[in-house]
Amino acid sequence: MKLWNVLVTGGAGYVGSALIPELIREGHKVTVLDLYLYGEVFDELKGHPNLREVRGDLRDIDVVKDALAGCDCVIHLACISNDPSYDLDPNLGKSINYDAFLPLVKASKAAGVKRFIYASSSSVYGVKDDPEVHEDLPLEPLTDYSKFKALCEQELNAEAGPDFTVCTIRPSTVCGYAKRQRLDVVVNIFTNQAVNNGRIRVTGGPQKRPNIHIMDMVRVYLHLLQQPDSAINRKIWNAGDTNFPISELAEIVRKVVGDHVTIETVPTNDPRSYQVSGRKIREEIGFELKYTIEDAVRGLVEAMKAGKLTDPLNNPEYFNIKLMQQLKLQ
Ligand SMILES: NC(=O)c1ccc[n+]([C@@H]2O[C@H](COP(=O)([O-])OP(=O)(O)OC[C@H]3O[C@@H](n4cnc5c(N)ncnc54)[C@H](O)[C@@H]3O)[C@@H](O)[C@H]2O)c1
Repeated sequence: MKLWNVLVTGGAGYVGSALIPELIREGHKVTVLDLYLYGEVFDELKGHPNLREVRGDLRDIDVVKDALAGCDCVIHLACISNDPSYDLDPNLGKSINYDAFLPLVKASKAAGVKRFIYASSSSVYGVKDDPEVHEDLPLEPLTDYSKFKALCEQELNAEAGPDFTVCTIRPSTVCGYAKRQRLDVVVNIFTNQAVNNGRIRVTGGPQKRPNIHIMDMVRVYLHLLQQPDSAINRKIWNAGDTNFPISELAEIVRKVVGDHVTIETVPTNDPRSYQVSGRKIREEIGFELKYTIEDAVRGLVEAMKAGKLTDPLNNPEYFNIKLMQQLKLQ
């Protein structure tokens, strides 16, 4: 197995909190660069010789250079990571999600990083009628969050070189339990409502949404680390291949949580539906999904029953927009 010295920006976020322990378990050395907006997540790994935590802002190039010392790979997750949080302060969102991007890429190159993996988003496609939204379709981002994700993809590919392999992943919406929990993504929202309210509220119903289990998301990044440069360089792949109508997502949640859960459906004037295909990453580098939506719901229910989440209906830590409103980050 190829072992890396990986810098994970945003490593203390939802995906990072599940990824870091797995990277360490595989034997990689890990540096996390994060503002820890959502709090501490690595208590169980404190003092681990393969974990270095840098608490800082990726917009500060000196902090970035310090974090990059000794790293040969970057997985770039940090950002203001949904539309409402981005729109709360578009200047802040742009400064983190876009303005800081190229300086990070260039600093990585200068520091001798060999591989740079970027977490984009399947929202770059906008809403498409195509039954299979694949990577070669034109991008029609509908929001600034998505527009800057798309721009970063282009800028990253332009930086690729013989000693600098780059790869972009466009994840579906992530679901399931992680140490730093998000409860503002659709499957997790429904599960939270079902467990703690006994009632799921569905807006619309037939619209399809792509989702990926958080451990499959983690497995994508682990898989990329084991591929040869030539297999991933300048590649852009969707991650996720599970597209259910949201009414069906609610049914899946009810099936796991129990028949006592009621589903309330309210009409929407936004019937947009989309689904993404995970065929390309499967065919080109053999990445197969392993977990289902049921697995994600079960994991969350178990975590809630075990008391791992504190006041899940109201705690702002679980809802990016609520926390960003409180933090007033500049
Ligand atoms: N979660 C999803 O459903 C999903 C779907 C598609 C794409 N993605 C992408 O995957 C990545 C990870 O998503 P997530 O759900 O873990 O997000 P998250 O919001 O949980 O984590 C983002 C992390 O970035 C950190 N951060 C923000 N600004 C920073 C800055 N200026 N300097 C340093 N750290 C900073 C935050 O403290 C946080 O820990 C993001 O790029 C996101 O756009 C996520």
